[in-house]
Amino acid sequence: MGIVFNEKTGEFHLFNGRISYLMKILRNGQMGQLYFGPAIPQKEQYDYLVENSYRPTAAYVYEGEYSFSLDHLKQEYPSYGTTDFRMPALEILQEDGSRITNFTYVSHRIYGGKPKLEGLPATYTEKDEEADTLEILLRDELLGAELTLLYTIFRDMDAIARSARFENKGRQALRLTEAMSLSLDLPDSDYVWTQLSGAWGRERSVMERPLVPGIQSVGSTRGGSGHYQNPFVALRRPNADEFQGEALGFSLVYSGNFLAQAEVDTYGVTRMMMGIHPLDFTWCLNPGEHFQTPEAVVVYSNHGLNGMSQTFHRLFRTRLARGEWRDKERPILINNWEATYFDFNEEKLVEIARAAKQDGVELFVLDDGWFGSRCSETSGLGDWTPNLDRLPNGIKGLAARIEELGMKFGLWVELEMVNKDSDLYRAHPDWILSTPGRRESHGRKQYVLDFSRREVVDYIYGMIEALLADAAVSYIKWDMNRFITECYSAGWPAERQGEIFHRYILGLYDLYERLITRFPHILFESCASGGGRFDPGMLYYAPQAWTSDDTDAAERLKIQYGTSFAYPISSMGAHVSASPNHQLFRKTSMEIRGNVAYFGAFGYELDLTRLTLEERGIVRRQIAFVKKYRGLLHKGTFWRLKSPFEGNIVAWMVVSADKKQAIVGYYKILNEVNGPFRRLKLQGLDESFCYRLTEVGGEADAACSTLFFGSELMNVGMVTSDASAGEQNSQNHCTDFWSRVIVLEAE
Ligand code: DGJ
Repeated sequence: MGIVFNEKTGEFHLFNGRISYLMKILRNGQMGQLYFGPAIPQKEQYDYLVENSYRPTAAYVYEGEYSFSLDHLKQEYPSYGTTDFRMPALEILQEDGSRITNFTYVSHRIYGGKPKLEGLPATYTEKDEEADTLEILLRDELLGAELTLLYTIFRDMDAIARSARFENKGRQALRLTEAMSLSLDLPDSDYVWTQLSGAWGRERSVMERPLVPGIQSVGSTRGGSGHYQNPFVALRRPNADEFQGEALGFSLVYSGNFLAQAEVDTYGVTRMMMGIHPLDFTWCLNPGEHFQTPEAVVVYSNHGLNGMSQTFHRLFRTRLARGEWRDKERPILINNWEATYFDFNEEKLVEIARAAKQDGVELFVLDDGWFGSRCSETSGLGDWTPNLDRLPNGIKGLAARIEELGMKFGLWVELEMVNKDSDLYRAHPDWILSTPGRRESHGRKQYVLDFSRREVVDYIYGMIEALLADAAVSYIKWDMNRFITECYSAGWPAERQGEIFHRYILGLYDLYERLITRFPHILFESCASGGGRFDPGMLYYAPQAWTSDDTDAAERLKIQYGTSFAYPISSMGAHVSASPNHQLFRKTSMEIRGNVAYFGAFGYELDLTRLTLEERGIVRRQIAFVKKYRGLLHKGTFWRLKSPFEGNIVAWMVVSADKKQAIVGYYKILNEVNGPFRRLKLQGLDESFCYRLTEVGGEADAACSTLFFGSELMNVGMVTSDASAGEQNSQNHCTDFWSRVIVLEAE
């Protein structure tokens, strides 16, 4: 286990007993990629994997030789213009206008553990034995510039983290115009590309297409990772599915503009790349300066897409998320947004909180509208002092009243934004991102504060620190409701304007870091108009994120299913909201809304005082269920069983580490007349254990008198045929948007 360097052959072998990653110092000193996949033995040499041969129209590196062409070689961090015509991982504009680079091997370091990345989120180790790291130092002799490629292989997770660091040790001013986090040349292109795409209200739908020659990509150029594409891609073999076969997952630990791209060349090689989007990106590397890219993580699975996701879940839940709340049971919350929108006062909030407390809710969250002149979306953002007309006792007084009820208190903020109608904007109109002489575009009547400037971040920190130090706030929902336009900072010179998108994100990370350090007891939840910045970068600071503003149960099945490709269910804020639903106006039962939200960080987003007694009874049962099982729900192994993108039946489950407990969620979107008999094959159980199945719901949960072996449940399946709509007298006949939750306990 570990990382081996073969001095004779110049080969590096990263392995953990299950996967291997092989590289080689090529004849020209650049780094070549040899292999990534299931473990292979450590051999004397793997030279046969350096494939090149004469091809008409190719350009060759060495005078008089017709074999060594970078266009044919699989590489680790390729550059353009010296025989490789594919898209490069880096590009550096030099003083003479040239962009040709040649980074060749100088030395390397191998050590246990994993380094932090300066100012950036990254996966980490708690003990050095958990991972091995390789740093390969390369130098461009002409420029005097250095490039360090960083690789960490985790010992008990089939994941490799990668990033790159540039340092200008030469004398000329360099401009980095592209610096990917990861570039990986795979020997063939027999893959199906899977991406998570969407929009506000329908984030992270699973979309697939076979790789074809040429470039295919997803990305964001909005200044945030966005609702539209997620910084995640999977490549699965055409014969792989959720449960078996080979799948590679790529994830960028970053919250800003990104590009994830696969280029299939004419010889069938797939160059997979991930990093900061090169559009509107330049970074000045003056002599003595350095630049660290964000981290990308690549996961290998030969247990299908579920296997890939389970590795991401474990890595992101335990070695990306941090702080006190990483492992703690998350409080069941109630958020007042959909209960009141902007129309509330202290008494109304306390009334909702009191009802919630009666039902067992643990945390009351006050959403938008509590500060400055904020009574609608047109004003107040930036003025983080309580509106005393609505909250005469301030946040401190309200928080104290909530605490007196026996609940914790949480608060919404949107620290990156300002309305023009605000004291902050009036005092500092030059603090927004805005291009001189150009129109300033708004989004939701708000503007983006220039977080690339230290003084702006300091000011916001000061304001919010004072508020949080003064009141009993246990939770923060950190929203962000528009993306960046006219990106330009008054705080930086002309030649650094290409840095602003990234500097903005660095400022955001800095503010988060300062706040989580100052207030380690506060649970942070990130949000961006729902799930518009649901990315691994955010998870480093906030262990949960608001998954989507769309809380309709049927839509949430798709959103949570897609999100689970890369993100653990403990990270997905999932609330029961009112029916008819506020986004879709669809009516669904209280049961299905709960049965979907159970598989997330559970809460409510409605006015409990308006529910019937019967509904309040259901709320109490739901809360009791979550309190009993949230440890299992959040820390168990999550399996997707039936996809909402493929059919009318949706199912998923979680299994405890010791396999003694499991919970299955089973959903039928539309009812059907006289439907087929059905069985659902479960996953991840112990074949020899005998499980008792208990149907959750109703006054008393109904335990099935028959016991089932794990092998039965996994091979024969759980019989799920339900009473048909035509069966009028049946007590449990289905309706549209019907669901069941079943608890399995090994006896
Ligand atoms: C967008 C969020 O996604 C909502 O949950 C809510 O907090 C609103 N913003 C408030 O303006």
